[in-house]
Amino acid sequence: MAKPVIWITRTLSDATLERARRDYDVIWDEADRPGTAEDIIRMSAKVDGIIPCHSEHFSADVVAELDPRLKIVANHSVGVDHCDLPALRDKGIVVTNTPGVLSDATAELAMMLMLAAARNAVAGDRVVRSGNWDFWSPAFMVGKQVTGAPLGIIGMGGVGRAFARKARGFDMEIHYHNRSRLSPEDEAGATYHEDLESLLAVSDFLSLHCPATTQTTGIINAGTLAQMPKGSVLVNTARGSLVDEAALLDAIDSGQLAAAGLDCFVTEPGGNPDFSSRDNIVMMPHVGSATVSTRDAMGFKALDNLDAFFRGDTPPDQL
Ligand code: DGY
Repeated sequence: MAKPVIWITRTLSDATLERARRDYDVIWDEADRPGTAEDIIRMSAKVDGIIPCHSEHFSADVVAELDPRLKIVANHSVGVDHCDLPALRDKGIVVTNTPGVLSDATAELAMMLMLAAARNAVAGDRVVRSGNWDFWSPAFMVGKQVTGAPLGIIGMGGVGRAFARKARGFDMEIHYHNRSRLSPEDEAGATYHEDLESLLAVSDFLSLHCPATTQTTGIINAGTLAQMPKGSVLVNTARGSLVDEAALLDAIDSGQLAAAGLDCFVTEPGGNPDFSSRDNIVMMPHVGSATVSTRDAMGFKALDNLDAFFRGDTPPDQL
């Protein structure tokens, strides 16, 4: 029997591409460019399934034009804000994602950004690297101590909980806000805040781990930033749309935020050029899940979902 034809939009790990080629008739372009709306519509007539990343946008307009040949969108991402899920569902297209497998890698990057933001990593690296380090004093590059500090987490899914586990290693006092309270086992001593306001008030450090939805767009804005303790630190490894970037910049310039660590931006790729002149904003280019083992695990999960679908089973991560 002929193998199903799939389009892999971006360069996935070698192990993923090897397994995909073994089991499917794979279309993949090593140019590794994001698929445009036209690409997605054109390819939908040639393939039975697509493994896209968050760089391919299945908006309602695109979905309306998809060819009936396309049966499954097996995302290589946990976030699915690039997909109009109701539109895909109405069209009878199955959608899956990759939960769980990228929690540790993303939490590691959040930890790196939190520490780097708190301890002046951008300015410190620059002064040494540039050869301009000609001064030292006890008053030089004094940062904010992480150990023992209160940490607020918005979104206690897989990544939020992985971040909390790592933060416990720094004796941080964990607080969280989530749609629903976790079981005592998952909570592991963290304090639940039903109201966002009450979480913000205690968050000397605040890390975002919730999905981007219509409810969470701009959840960090002038109003919510003002509710945080003065001199707090914000970390975002979730999605750029959660943060009003102009309000973030105002909070950095007024000292309301001492620093920020960002892996996600409203405009990606690209980021926000206004952030570049602020040394207390540490930035990475949306690489939270970019480790060798996690890329393999994400690719394998996307393939597991495709395998189940083409076997006639419900994919384990069907949304
Ligand atoms: C995810 O899985 O959502 C990451 O942001 C990478 O796309």
